[in-house]
Amino acid sequence: MSRLSDIANQLVAPGKGILAADESTGTIKKRFDTIGLASTETSRRDYREMLFGADEAMSQYISGVILFDETIRQSASDGTPFVEMLRANNALAGIKVDTGAKPMSGFADETVTEGLDGLRDRLNEYAALGATFAKWRGVIAIGENKPTRGSIHANAHALARYAALCQEAGIVPIVEPEVLADGKPGDHTIEVCERVTTDTLAEVFEELRLAGVELDGIILKPNMVIPGVNGPKVSVEEVAERTVRTLKATVPAIVPGIAFLSGGQTCEQASANLSAMHNLGKLPWGLTFSYGRALQADALAAWAGKPENVEAARRAFIHRAKMNSLASQGQWAAELDRAA
Ligand code: 13P
Repeated sequence: MSRLSDIANQLVAPGKGILAADESTGTIKKRFDTIGLASTETSRRDYREMLFGADEAMSQYISGVILFDETIRQSASDGTPFVEMLRANNALAGIKVDTGAKPMSGFADETVTEGLDGLRDRLNEYAALGATFAKWRGVIAIGENKPTRGSIHANAHALARYAALCQEAGIVPIVEPEVLADGKPGDHTIEVCERVTTDTLAEVFEELRLAGVELDGIILKPNMVIPGVNGPKVSVEEVAERTVRTLKATVPAIVPGIAFLSGGQTCEQASANLSAMHNLGKLPWGLTFSYGRALQADALAAWAGKPENVEAARRAFIHRAKMNSLASQGQWAAELDRAA
């Protein structure tokens, strides 16, 4: 096995998934606003230290952590670099390398993700800092006359150019084309999400092929096929069936792993939906989580920025990580979740 496919397989090892802790400075401020905490370099450090110091979660359920530029350079309060802290629990360090979704010229209310200029040098620097994988998120919005072919193409093309540069630097690219469920108006049906996700993934794999990306050395990070947040509700079984059908139709079997984003689902929904997918028969790829909010929300609320709450917050994080580990093996159950 090549080194890239080795790393990719490690990221989707049985019972493990990825912690997305790569909130940009703007996004983490929004998260901290919900607990009334000012976002400073120190409070961001304390929050990440709370998460990364939850040894039971980090060693048993988390294969890798996606970091933000500031975090990959930061150390815990005792001076241990965060990358070292992760390594001690056998968790890989990853890095978000895109510079955000920006308005796409000529396409009202659509975005294209930026960050390709100078990316080769930045990747080499991140590799030297200990990163073995990276993330780039393209955003596809659903609405009246959206998405356009143009925005799907531009985002897929950028993802492919990013992925090729990562592999050149010996870094596994997480390829994340997110079809938004929580955009505006967010009232679309699950059928619309399925169609747009199918079109998007087909375009992404076409662009990856044209860019010469080795498909056995990537991780795909897609949205699940779900209705918009204000759209008609559906069952867990329907989400699982439509998501697996969409992935089977578009993702080559040589891809080692698929790790979902949670995209505004509740913690329990994100676990239930993932678990149900594993009850639909054998799948060609590893299928797990790469959640941000659905792993962190309970821990953030329990922590509330107070040192005396660190242990309670870690317990909340360990519980979510364990529930998602079970889900990634088709063994999650609501009773187990609520019993804690
Ligand atoms: P959510 O799971 O909160 O959607 O975040 C995952 C992520 O990394 C989005 O880029």
